[in-house]
Amino acid sequence: MTEQREQWGSRLGFILAAAGSAVGLGNIWKFPYLVGEYGGAAFILLYLVCVLVIGLPVVIAEILIGRTAQKNPIGSYRELSNGNPFWISVGVLGVATGFIILSYYNVIAGWSLGYVVESVTGRFHDFQNPGQAGELFGHLSSNPVWSISFHAGFMALTVAIIYTGVTRGIEKASKILMPLLLILMIILVCRGVTLEGAKRGMDYLLKADFSAITKQTVLIALGQAFFSLSLGMGALLTYGSYMSKKENLPKSAVSIVAVDTIIALLAGFMIFPALFAMGEHPDQGFPLIFNILPVVFNSIPGGYYFRIIFFVLLALAALTSTISLLEVIISYMIDEFELSRKKMAILFGTLVFLLGIPPALSFGVMSKVTIFGLTFFGLFDFLATNVFLPLGGICTAIFVGWFWGIKKALPQLREGAEDTAPLLLKTWAFVIRYIAPVLILIVFLSSLGIL
Ligand code: TRP
Repeated sequence: MTEQREQWGSRLGFILAAAGSAVGLGNIWKFPYLVGEYGGAAFILLYLVCVLVIGLPVVIAEILIGRTAQKNPIGSYRELSNGNPFWISVGVLGVATGFIILSYYNVIAGWSLGYVVESVTGRFHDFQNPGQAGELFGHLSSNPVWSISFHAGFMALTVAIIYTGVTRGIEKASKILMPLLLILMIILVCRGVTLEGAKRGMDYLLKADFSAITKQTVLIALGQAFFSLSLGMGALLTYGSYMSKKENLPKSAVSIVAVDTIIALLAGFMIFPALFAMGEHPDQGFPLIFNILPVVFNSIPGGYYFRIIFFVLLALAALTSTISLLEVIISYMIDEFELSRKKMAILFGTLVFLLGIPPALSFGVMSKVTIFGLTFFGLFDFLATNVFLPLGGICTAIFVGWFWGIKKALPQLREGAEDTAPLLLKTWAFVIRYIAPVLILIVFLSSLGIL
């Protein structure tokens, strides 16, 4: 490619954009409902272990591949493996996984946009309990016109930003939005924990009871760690490819993981104390935040406005994530075929929209259509999150640790991070070679019942 590849405008640009990718519905919508479904504090602990022991080292490895090769996932694997077909196919699996995730993720993102509209029209104004909110949620999510319109609307937003180019669009957006979201979440946490009866919710989040943990739960926690960190399919790799070698990569990785984890934990503290205070059950599944939060705002002065702001910010957090997912596919098309960014944005936006229609209908007209007992939504989510992402993670670790090799990877990692203690880098190398791949393999095999 002759054209100079774009780079992040500032040091912070990469961190903000990568954190923008990581922080999204995974933290605010998915994490709480998984916690509620899979055992509260014990699940949280398991999740934290997955993030620290497997997530962080693989985040570093994935960004490193991108920064070294300065290409999209497929191009990067091709270059660093000297065209080995197996590793190229790992890149292909990543791009395909991004395609699948974006298709159903965008549906939920569309819901959050729909909830902005519902908030503005004052639909939640008289709601006293989550039951009423739940009824409305069931009504809306099963309405094909509602879910498909917002699915289309959200995809149009994503395409519009990709259309304008990498640095300008993404970087600017994340810089303003993330801190705002954080502030609003803190307000919600404060409200939740001061409600009468919130203590049971705190206990639920802090006192671990491991009796509910099964082998399946471990796989769910691992998959969620990958999903929440945007890890395992080349999104971080792609963002890393726009990163300068002067930047401290390990430090940036730690910031991204820290921000993502803090927001997920805050989401837990935003929901469960309020939920227990309202006498609700934690295992409500995917409608959880849509049932609980609209009602919580009714007990806050100015709740009408805060509720609107919250759903706007949730939609924007989702937007920085959908952008990162679409960007992987687009950067591949641009790098490899020198096609136009604008045309590709529109073409792939349309294709992903179409693929998202069955998941969008999974809560209504297609709720009875199942494959292996799962709806389209459930199947896409399970395959992508719990199979393809961890699989991508194993491959990333094996590639960096063994095939491309630690001997080549370490000097690359040291660039821009000369002041990092050698022991830390050696620890990372050890984890990437031995610990991360073995642990992911064990989780896989045991959930299949083989171990
Ligand atoms: N991490 C985002 C979230 O938590 C979702 C996301 C964006 C993602 N890009 C990804 C998940 C790449 C997996 C892979 O909402």
